[in-house]
Amino acid sequence: MEDREREKKENVYAGFDRQIDRRETGAYKWSGGRYGLEEDRIIPMWVADMDFACPEPVATAVKERAAHPLYGYTVRDQGYEAVIAGWMKRRYGFEPREEWLAFAPPGVLYAIYTMLRILTEKGDGVIVLMPNYDPLHEVVTKSGRRLAESQLLIKDGKIEIDFDDLESKLAGDVKVMIISNPHNPSGRVWRREELQRAAELCRRYGVFVISDEIHADFVSQKYGHTAFPSLGEEEALNCMACYSANKGFNLGGLQTSTLVIADPEKRRAFDEEMGIGQTRLDNIFGITATRAAYSDPLCEKWLDEAIEYVDGNKELVYDYLRRYVPEIRAVRSEGTYLMWLDCSALGMDGKELEQFFLESARVQPCMGYEFGGQGGSGDRFVRLNAACPRTIVMAALDRIKNAVSGLRGGR
Ligand SMILES: Cc1ncc(COP(=O)(O)O)c(C=O)c1O
Repeated sequence: MEDREREKKENVYAGFDRQIDRRETGAYKWSGGRYGLEEDRIIPMWVADMDFACPEPVATAVKERAAHPLYGYTVRDQGYEAVIAGWMKRRYGFEPREEWLAFAPPGVLYAIYTMLRILTEKGDGVIVLMPNYDPLHEVVTKSGRRLAESQLLIKDGKIEIDFDDLESKLAGDVKVMIISNPHNPSGRVWRREELQRAAELCRRYGVFVISDEIHADFVSQKYGHTAFPSLGEEEALNCMACYSANKGFNLGGLQTSTLVIADPEKRRAFDEEMGIGQTRLDNIFGITATRAAYSDPLCEKWLDEAIEYVDGNKELVYDYLRRYVPEIRAVRSEGTYLMWLDCSALGMDGKELEQFFLESARVQPCMGYEFGGQGGSGDRFVRLNAACPRTIVMAALDRIKNAVSGLRGGR
């Protein structure tokens, strides 16, 4: 092995255990002066990014590009589409035709907002499986569309789609369904049969699907990710699927995304709409990082290791809670680095639970109420981000245990 190759490899494997101080870097998750591992600070486990350095070949590619001091308007270079399609083929077993790809440099959310503007008008119904990542239902309500919710169920600690409820809602006055796969906040990886069933219902009732698959890269091969457009030709024509190297490789600050839109009319409309806002070019560093992440085999290896490491963190959380904090029950997280924790037995509602986590435990998860759901079904949950060094997960668990012990004592 060449020296440079060896050096690269060693760097790639140098530790998810390493604690990296992000406080002076503008990191959203760690900003505002109140976060830290010190006793009087709060451990941040909210925003969906990782406290791991991205793989070294990605950082090198960005640095090499940065060394060329011209940062003018940038187009995706030749072969970029092939790199993305190749990645999807290798990782999801689905190879989109290159002409199906569209791009939205600001990110997945902007792409979804754009497609909603194209397909719906104010007052039109859009269905979201709830609870769900807050911007996915807020993009509906804040743009004046009508949110039609289909409540997800929890059966034996596992999130399930209520197909009867879903069908009754689809049969009503709705034009679009938004689904996240894997599901945020729970990390549920939807199986092919489940997606197939949902897709058939959507076609039966003429509902277009926006499938947000931004977390698809962070799914272990054990479960495997099913890309919505891989369900069949009709299904592909009836959806827009959203992807990004952001979640798998921790590139949230580089703002790129790729869409698969098989229907040529919808794709043309999408590209036109992106052109109006001058958002059709791209972010120099976003495309550089994406290309490296999706084409360097060391990055793929890094990703598999990151998934394995986070799976270890999740096991630690399950085991720890079962032993020491049985009042908090974790829903099984199959993909993503997110964990959906049922805190009902603590007997606190949304804001009270938030205060408990921030002030007593000094740990900040995302609060369940943000994710919505009928009758505040998410209220007694929190979403914990397990993508950090294990020592931090452990410190957070100890804090939660002590805070819950304090509650027990007080009762
Ligand atoms: C399900 C889901 N969709 C979209 C996003 C945001 O994507 P982007 O930053 O590309 O808009 C996130 C970020 O956490 C997410 O979890």
